[in-house]
Amino acid sequence: MPGTELFGDEERREVMEVLETGVLFRYGHEDRRRGRWKARGMEERVREYTGASHALAVSSGSTAVACALAAAGIGHGDEVIVPPFTYLATIEAVLLAGGLPVFADIDDTLCLNAEGIRAALSPNTRAVLLVHMCGAAADMDPIVDLCRERDLVLVEDAGQALGAWYHGRSVGRFGATGAFSFDFFKITTAGEGGVFVTDDETRFRLADSFADHGHDHIGGNRGMEQHPILGFNYRISELHAAVGLAQLRKLDAMRELKRANKAALRAAVEDLPGLGFRRMPDPEGDSGTFLNLLLPDVEAAARATEALRAAGVPGVNYWFTNMYHFINQWDHVKNLDAAAPLAIHSLGAPQDYRALQLPRAQDVIGRLISVGIGCSWEPDVTERIGSDLRSALVTVLG
Ligand SMILES: Cc1ncc(COP(=O)(O)O)c(C=O)c1O
Repeated sequence: MPGTELFGDEERREVMEVLETGVLFRYGHEDRRRGRWKARGMEERVREYTGASHALAVSSGSTAVACALAAAGIGHGDEVIVPPFTYLATIEAVLLAGGLPVFADIDDTLCLNAEGIRAALSPNTRAVLLVHMCGAAADMDPIVDLCRERDLVLVEDAGQALGAWYHGRSVGRFGATGAFSFDFFKITTAGEGGVFVTDDETRFRLADSFADHGHDHIGGNRGMEQHPILGFNYRISELHAAVGLAQLRKLDAMRELKRANKAALRAAVEDLPGLGFRRMPDPEGDSGTFLNLLLPDVEAAARATEALRAAGVPGVNYWFTNMYHFINQWDHVKNLDAAAPLAIHSLGAPQDYRALQLPRAQDVIGRLISVGIGCSWEPDVTERIGSDLRSALVTVLG
């Protein structure tokens, strides 16, 4: 958990600055806040880092995805292509926006690809909600070309991928809108938080209002602001933003440390027969958060998971059986169980979610083990983890 590994005086100082003024709200109160604007600071940093023209800090990665869909104009009755390997928030965001998720197959990039998207298209497809999984970018050129060719709105859920690039461009900047998460498990954390990005001023204005009950944020008198649209409360607090801001200043350093540790682990196992790795269209753009191993088959992956855990390798994830990240476990999604009626209940599902055919996803995720990479490991720790990783894998691969 990189961000949380490097908590220090920087985070404490930023939080104390907020507590000293007592202004925990991100808007207004200029008389008391002594020029301290943490959400604005977080947004400025994300703009600088990603190159996005606009950034909006919000309460979570989930609400950032909701903003990304709303600001891209996606809503009631729209078919949105989504991956079966992601965090549940991606699918929830589509359903709660009134959209109809259409699952497409993925490949060994762990993300949607142009081929899978093409196979899932229907005359009603409106958008692609692309997720950059496990800290690295999808294969963007063919996906962007396809979206242009078919006039599809591309929205990026880069919840797991701040610090990931594709040939010199940050993830989140290929589509109409993008979203990052700053939850407790991400490369940089705010405890809870997210950031919406776009290069389009109009879309930014929409997200800015949508995330704050429709306020237009013009005029400086909150009580008298206009409401051009309906919205909701997706605001981040200054306390969370203070932590996020301090963490963003460490992003480059954490990314470099993780990439180095990941390279060391990979070198320790690279020659093992039968072992493969997640394909990365731009390895230099990897944020380094996970070493993604591909075992020869599902049985080998399950056995290797046990062996790695028994050997004490930290951060071992086998998503195939994990309840959050892969469609096989999402019975409530497939059954469309919700506290209140969703648009899909009246419109009907565009696919039979209980009989989806996603053979490449089943194969790749069945064989995938992701090892989380630390950024605070001393060289001897990295070496020991590499050696444990190798010994455990050898018991399965021979
Ligand atoms: C791909 C993806 N999208 C969205 C989210 C939601 O982010 P949050 O937990 O900040 O709401 C996550 C969180 O894990 C994620 O992995």
